[in-house]
Amino acid sequence: MSKASKPAPIGKFKKRVFSGVQPSGGLTLGNYLGAIKRFVQMQDDDFETIYCVVDLHAITVWQNPKILRQNSRELAASFIASGLDPTKSILFNQSAVPAHAQLGWVFNCVARMGWMQRMTQFKDKAGKNAQNASLGLFGYPALMAADILAYHATHVPVGDDQKQHLELTRDIAIKFNHDYEVDFFPITEPVIGGPAARVMSLRDGTKKMSKSDPSDLSRINMTDNSDLIANKIKKAKTDQHGLPSEPKGLEGRAEAQNLVSIYAALGNESIENVLKEIGGKQFSEFKPMLVERAIEVLSPISREMARLMQDIPQLDKLLDDGALKANLISEPILQKTFDIIGVR
Ligand code: TYM
Repeated sequence: MSKASKPAPIGKFKKRVFSGVQPSGGLTLGNYLGAIKRFVQMQDDDFETIYCVVDLHAITVWQNPKILRQNSRELAASFIASGLDPTKSILFNQSAVPAHAQLGWVFNCVARMGWMQRMTQFKDKAGKNAQNASLGLFGYPALMAADILAYHATHVPVGDDQKQHLELTRDIAIKFNHDYEVDFFPITEPVIGGPAARVMSLRDGTKKMSKSDPSDLSRINMTDNSDLIANKIKKAKTDQHGLPSEPKGLEGRAEAQNLVSIYAALGNESIENVLKEIGGKQFSEFKPMLVERAIEVLSPISREMARLMQDIPQLDKLLDDGALKANLISEPILQKTFDIIGVR
């Protein structure tokens, strides 16, 4: 943390949302409920909304080029199929807008080694083989800060696992403003919350639902058909108790907490309300309700995704148009940053 005394208040900045998702394949229900569904909700609030397929983040781990290109389009299709409206939001590929990588370099020179070494996601992803991880994987949170700050974004909706990266983004903005004696970058607000801030594995309620879990039964993928969804929920781990009528009764019951949270998030309800309805039921009665709700929400999305993927030129054009708009916002911010630091 820098010793800046006066962070730039968000007040002077336009209310602007930025968020991104990696096109590393296998979008899960966690990505949808923790992030994409909330992106869609925020475009109807009083915000300018900018959403990004962060392909440069994906290559911090080697990707097959053909599959990466396919995954980027599929992710863009899933955004739109989930309700993201390209006339309301800007949607684009990160690599199509040069300011991300350029500002990312500047932030590599602002962020401190000690800050990066504390990032738990790097430790998790690099595992025991950290010496063999790419430098990009280590520096990744500085690029993420650049994604956000290249737009002077004030609000960033993400799942709970990105919290530490957003704290780092704030530290980078504070240090930059302090070191150059400016009030230039906003101190971004993370927008994390709701019942699905952390969707857990269906096989182990203490582990995050993740595309990298070796067991496909641990997650619901956005491309799963109805039979698969039903089967995975049927096999989801539970405990031997019935469902409580109040949230307190979920304490210490990770799997029950997770399934009830998913049900609540899918139906835009609070956990309290859901428990009023299902309290006293056994899992054998609750699981079919969850299956029905999951299929009702997810089937139209996967159908629409498949339809959008039929017209790749249209999808590419939409992303290119988005990149032009994104560039118009980020380029002047990059130029001003260069001006502040004394280059160009
Ligand atoms: P990524 O691609 O891993 O995940 C995309 C979004 O999905 C959320 N998420 C979850 N939410 C709830 N429960 C889960 N089990 C779950 N799994 C994933 C993530 O929190 C995230 O919001 N570094 C980011 C991408 C990024 C970014 C940015 C985000 C790059 N630049 C700038 C915001 C702003 C990432 O790897 O997310």
